[in-house]
Amino acid sequence: MKVLSGIQPTGRFHWGNYFGAISQYIALQDNEQAFYFIANLHALTTVRDKDLLAKYTLDSAIDLLSLGLDPEQAVLFVQSDVPEVSELCWLLLTGTPMGLLERCVAYKDKKAKGLPADAGLFTYPVLQAADILAFDSDTVPVGEDQVQHIEVCRDIAGSFNHQFGDVFVLPKAKVLDSSARVPGTDGEKMSKSYDNTLAVFDDVKAQRKQIMRISTDSRPMEDPKEPDGDVLYQLYCLVASESDRDEMAAMYRRGGFGYGDVKKALATAAEAFFAEARAQRDDWASRPDDVRDVLKTGAAWARKKASQVLQRAQDACGVRGY
Ligand code: ADP
Ligand code: TRP
Repeated sequence: MKVLSGIQPTGRFHWGNYFGAISQYIALQDNEQAFYFIANLHALTTVRDKDLLAKYTLDSAIDLLSLGLDPEQAVLFVQSDVPEVSELCWLLLTGTPMGLLERCVAYKDKKAKGLPADAGLFTYPVLQAADILAFDSDTVPVGEDQVQHIEVCRDIAGSFNHQFGDVFVLPKAKVLDSSARVPGTDGEKMSKSYDNTLAVFDDVKAQRKQIMRISTDSRPMEDPKEPDGDVLYQLYCLVASESDRDEMAAMYRRGGFGYGDVKKALATAAEAFFAEARAQRDDWASRPDDVRDVLKTGAAWARKKASQVLQRAQDACGVRGY
């Protein structure tokens, strides 16, 4: 299997990003050939501040390395360091029907809200297709929300192949475990856009404060309660051991406890769960040049592969070897 996935550097990673995507695709690095990249060209469609985008890009690399992405096992690079991808994107754009992109959710939603959309957002799925096709990836681990983009990629690759011969490998989405849909501090899906996130690398004290502020229902303390569906319990399950989880579930069902106790237990379990990654992060963050070296090595590998695929596509459609 050849695995590829990308993540946009649009802010600090939160628990939703980690449990819903990053942890699952990092786990694939041990047994598969894996390429992971930081999609800064995609992020440029939303982050329009030079310093911020640069900071988020390096921070994302530091975070991924600290969370266990092993540059010996997987190739890690920044999207803009592999210009072949952008070149391939143009070849793909020339054969992409407007209608296909008009049906894509991100653009459609913005349009429906009457917000101005730019060509970057409109053609976002084509750049994503180029990301995938440039590495002959056959498996793309993504959250549910990205499945449409993988289908678009297959459509684009299929019609290019139909016109110019067998150039691209058609990829499949590997939809990540949807039970990992992480609730935010307000019970809605955790998302940057809802301002309800718990950041993976928040400082321990700040995180504890934030957890203590999570809103709960006003059930009397002595009432028993079903744990499933309770936000605090769901979050606790992500970071606690199996036996602690069972004990917590039993406590909910017995009743006679306060949410304050659950919050404290959650904060303590979260601190322990991320302790190792936090230590790793302090280490990587203290040597940013080593992180840049990892990215440079990753980009060199990635360019080698992407330039072969680009040449194949250029030969096939007549823009090389004239
Ligand atoms: P956000 O909603 O905060 O902007 P992104 O859209 O950048 O997050 O998400 C990046 C990845 O993290 C996607 O693959 C997405 O499926 C996953 N993800 C984001 N939020 C959650 C969540 N609450 N639960 C599970 N997965 C999530
Ligand atoms: N669009 C993806 C997201 O928002 C990020 C991404 C960019 C990506 N290019 C990709 C994911 C290629 C998988 C494959 O999460």
